[in-house]
Amino acid sequence: MTQRRAMFLAPAALFLTVGLAACDSGMDEAALEARLGAMQAELEDRFTPGLHSLMVDLGVRHANLWFAGQAGNWPLADYMVHELEELVEEIEELHPMYREVRVAELIGEMTNPAIEDLEDAVDARDFAAFQRAFDDFTVACNACHIASDKSELVIQRPTGPMSTNLRFIPER
Ligand code: HEC
Repeated sequence: MTQRRAMFLAPAALFLTVGLAACDSGMDEAALEARLGAMQAELEDRFTPGLHSLMVDLGVRHANLWFAGQAGNWPLADYMVHELEELVEEIEELHPMYREVRVAELIGEMTNPAIEDLEDAVDARDFAAFQRAFDDFTVACNACHIASDKSELVIQRPTGPMSTNLRFIPER
């Protein structure tokens, strides 16, 4: 038997054994479904990125966006704004609540206007508007950190790029 087939057959055999054992022990369908549901919940929990990890991602994109805009690299800035938008949606979906904070509601409410202004500024390739929108965006980050009892997390305009292997200066 090839190794690949053995790798496929081993879990199949285990599944059958568990399945048959379940029949033998008289485990009914409802109990099996409940057990599968619990396993699914555990898997989702284990593989869902925590809010803190998604916030680190948000912080990296926030900084990279700044340097893309400062370099006048509008396609890269456009990419970063888009990624930030997706991250906000992911946070809304995966972490509706953080302790007593209604994250899903707040994050959209607080960041969407600034994200829309960022999109407009990037489309218009207008650095002055970009700076204003970027600062509004940063104010939104901090407003939520205060609302979340995390006032020690103060976000600011970055002073150096977080990704030095990503080229910010556009090809001329
Ligand atoms: C809806 C509320 C909310 C908004 C908006 C928000 N944050 Fe957060 N942020 C939190 C919470 C809550 C934590 C603490 C998470 C934890 O401790 O698990 C956090 C933590 C962080 C951290 C620390 C992560 C770590 O563990 O090292 C960073 C960095 C961060 N946020 C960046 C940002 C940036 C940048 C923005 C804006 C682009 C932003 N946040 C917007 C609620 C928010």
